[in-house]
Amino acid sequence: MGILEVKGVGKRFGGLQALGDVNLSVQENTVHAIIGPNGAGKSTLLNCLIGKLIPDTGSVMFDGQSVLGRKPHEINQMGISRVFQTPEIFGDLTVFENVMIPCFAKRDGAFRLHAFESVPKEKDLVQQAEEMLTEMNMIDKRHMHAAALSRGDKRRLEMAMCLVQQPKLLLLDEPTAGMARADTNNTIDLLKEIKEKRDITMAIIEHDMHVVFSLAERITVLAQGTPLVEDTPDNIKGHPKVQEAYLGQAH
Ligand SMILES: Nc1ncnc2c1ncn2[C@@H]1O[C@H](COP(=O)(O)OP(=O)(O)OP(=O)(O)O)[C@@H](O)[C@H]1O
Ligand SMILES: [Mg+2]
Repeated sequence: MGILEVKGVGKRFGGLQALGDVNLSVQENTVHAIIGPNGAGKSTLLNCLIGKLIPDTGSVMFDGQSVLGRKPHEINQMGISRVFQTPEIFGDLTVFENVMIPCFAKRDGAFRLHAFESVPKEKDLVQQAEEMLTEMNMIDKRHMHAAALSRGDKRRLEMAMCLVQQPKLLLLDEPTAGMARADTNNTIDLLKEIKEKRDITMAIIEHDMHVVFSLAERITVLAQGTPLVEDTPDNIKGHPKVQEAYLGQAH
């Protein structure tokens, strides 16, 4: 049994079957990559895991409990955090304030608008946020407005906002998309360090095979809404089904 068990998940948008019959088992403390061509259904699948979309069929179990029918913030409190394809940060707030938001939310179950006024008294939370920013090599940027950060730093800030909640499962939708190679390599190293330091499972959606083969321990190849193959990186390399998927000739 994996920490995440997806069984028979299907999702239709009007006439389009975005997900067919998806079965996926993500084992605890592994990095599991989900790859596939544009439009394969990767983000749709991820959205079904976090309550952003409700699948038409199938079940999604996390840590022995169903996530279906739960609101996104409830799923978040169960221990799933996600980094979206487009970073969801608050541009007008500082880097530090952005990281404080999930700290408050985790402790209080909701973000309080007056929270920032009480920041100086919230020593434990301030410390958590500072430690997190140090871990992400962003402590020097704590007073910068988030909107002014580079693309890579915006993504790392969103990762910090997820990780400060100490999730059991971190979902990453193309965490290095649009980054220069050096920035991508920094992010790979950072994710490796995080994986070593914490008990954390990661499911990562990625197009960049350098990222996939640097991080993943298991890989699922998705094409046209259906998993074609799931295997180790070594077995996936050069697998005919992977070729098939990327040439758009699946099925
Ligand atoms: N909200 C929506 N309404 C209608 N169609 C949608 C919606 N979201 C996704 N789709 C369609 O569902 C299919 C799967 O999309 P999805 O975004 O899951 O693909 P993806 O594998 O994440 O692609 P990419 O690699 O480009 O991010 C696509 O054909 C897409 O156009
Ligand atoms: Mg996508």
